[in-house]
Amino acid sequence: MSVIRPRRLRSTPAVRRLVAEAHPRPENLVLPMFIADGISEPQKISTMPGVFQHTEESLKYAAEEAVRAGIGGLMLFGVPAQEDKDSIATVATDPQGILNKGIRILRETIGDDSVIMADTCLDEFTDHGHCGVLGHDAMGREIVDNDATLLRYADMALEQARAGAQVVAPSGMMDGQVALIREALDSEGFEDVIILAYSAKYASAFYGPFRDAVGSTLHGDRNAYQQDPSNARESLREVELDLAEGADIVMVKPAFGFLDILREVADTSPVPVAAYQVSGEYAMIEAASAAGYIDRRRCIEESLTSIRRAGADIILTYYATEAAGWLR
Ligand code: PBG
Repeated sequence: MSVIRPRRLRSTPAVRRLVAEAHPRPENLVLPMFIADGISEPQKISTMPGVFQHTEESLKYAAEEAVRAGIGGLMLFGVPAQEDKDSIATVATDPQGILNKGIRILRETIGDDSVIMADTCLDEFTDHGHCGVLGHDAMGREIVDNDATLLRYADMALEQARAGAQVVAPSGMMDGQVALIREALDSEGFEDVIILAYSAKYASAFYGPFRDAVGSTLHGDRNAYQQDPSNARESLREVELDLAEGADIVMVKPAFGFLDILREVADTSPVPVAAYQVSGEYAMIEAASAAGYIDRRRCIEESLTSIRRAGADIILTYYATEAAGWLR
């Protein structure tokens, strides 16, 4: 009897290591971080145990720790004081606004020892919680006004570049956002600032804990601008458009429910591809392991390996610092 035996290549740790295809590496991991205005101690985020809203001091400490662990980049989000939010996200373009301040702190603290990235989106700064400014369509419906929002994104990206961000990351899914940001950056001499485009971003319920993390005041949903989880083709179109507009890196988000999309994008993209293991993915692993239902470390490693195997060159994950420690 001749049995074909794939098990031969699984027989010992050494042979498994020899033939392993996907390897998440510390340098592929990016840590999302939050800096909050008006707090004197780091604040726990109840739905994301182990993740904090940072003060200026604790941001420095956490950034240094992440750099020591060898991670590839830091993605910073700003959390303004509730009373500073308004309908057009004024604080987002204030050079002294909390996010721009945080970028300056990162630049002073870690310089070019890692890659400093900033979220280019209005939702943390608007009182209505949407990713853009509101307006009305021709039928009188209230909408997020695409083209008015683009102007805010261009200003926001410029302030982030001035503060020292090497990467700006438009995450609002407005049409034309990459082109307008590119033009604004180039016109001010920031030709070398990189655009990481959230190209295929789905309207996902798995962002729930993130809304806690940034104190979001969103009522309603983002279904009229982020993608419908039913659709795959649309992602390829979004990626194509962002590439034509000048995206340097494209992203798929969330990661776990959308590994098929990630695979398709990775197969065709001529630029590096990122994937975001979002807050809800983190929260599920944390909750299930706290309950003793799953092995935390193995599940984290398996999730990162799967995202890598599906084609991500870069993984944004709240586990970046911790996982980098294991992977080194
Ligand atoms: C928008 C933004 C969001 C996330 C990253 N950038 C929230 C949203 O689109 O509603 C979610 C990240 C996560 O859930 O971890 N600024």
